[in-house]
Amino acid sequence: MVLYDDKEMIARIDRLRKSRHAVILTHNYQLGEVQDIADFTGDSLELSMIAAKNSAEVIVFCGVRFMAETAAMLAPEKTVLLPVATAGCLMADMADGEALRQLKAQHPGAVTVCYVNSTAAVKAECDLCVTSANAFELVRNIPADREIIFVPDRNLGGNIIRATGRPMIMWDGFCPTHMRITPAMVQARRREFPAAKIIAHPEVRPEVAELCDEVMSTGGMCRYVKSAPCRELIIATESGIIHRLRKENPDLVYIPLSEQIVCPDMKMTRLGDVLRALETMQPRITVPEPLRERAVLPIRRMLEQSARFAPAQ
Ligand code: 13P
Ligand code: SF4
Repeated sequence: MVLYDDKEMIARIDRLRKSRHAVILTHNYQLGEVQDIADFTGDSLELSMIAAKNSAEVIVFCGVRFMAETAAMLAPEKTVLLPVATAGCLMADMADGEALRQLKAQHPGAVTVCYVNSTAAVKAECDLCVTSANAFELVRNIPADREIIFVPDRNLGGNIIRATGRPMIMWDGFCPTHMRITPAMVQARRREFPAAKIIAHPEVRPEVAELCDEVMSTGGMCRYVKSAPCRELIIATESGIIHRLRKENPDLVYIPLSEQIVCPDMKMTRLGDVLRALETMQPRITVPEPLRERAVLPIRRMLEQSARFAPAQ
């Protein structure tokens, strides 16, 4: 195995990115070294929109499997690479298509809404997909006389209920990283930094969200910080986003709610993995065509509907 230093690795990535006609998409939670070589860094909604519209032949998706899978479903003609094949999402793995079919059978007529953090098999059972950037508006838009099944995140679901007043039948999934945030942690940080605003991701528990000043997607956080009404911000989400916030707005002070809020899967991808993916054109993410045809429908519906709600939350 040849070992390169970072500078050499970046030069090689750049050469291959050009020769392969590739675009590197990076989620806001990725390591700084990976964010820094990206063509685009963003939240799940922004990255899926770019995947759908970009003219590149190859998408190197630095994130987790459901994100690369979503890109592969939206752009089946492109080669989608996930540099670390085992980078998954524990929450997405908490729901499965068969159990969801059984739940739907108990609620005929319900609108089934999935968070984008779900597998293709789950999406194939759903009417509408949402991300943290558009979930509140899209659920508000569902006719009031329809029951709603929401899968898999009970915390995002609880926060939607809190914001919209819409009752929903909830799957029992959660994000183990965001579950680590407790009300006591928020209260302690508030006492330590009374002038700071606390911004949280809607995957935190509703009783945590209640104590924060703003609840928004990672993309929403990046926009909020640009005109923040304060100098200090307490960040109640995965720590990776602080790299981007600091880079774009270096004059503000960012305080992680806790050093423990780290998603192990989001931290798997290193520069060397991106280089290897571009060299070998592996690991490639594909979704079998009959499954893709069904699973892409709720994603397309989401993209059509959320275009009416710009800018994203
Ligand atoms: P965003 O879409 O807000 O970036 O969230 C994705 C995610 O996985 C949060 O844990
Ligand atoms: Fe999944 Fe949570 Fe990691 Fe996001 S932070 S990818 S929801 S496990």
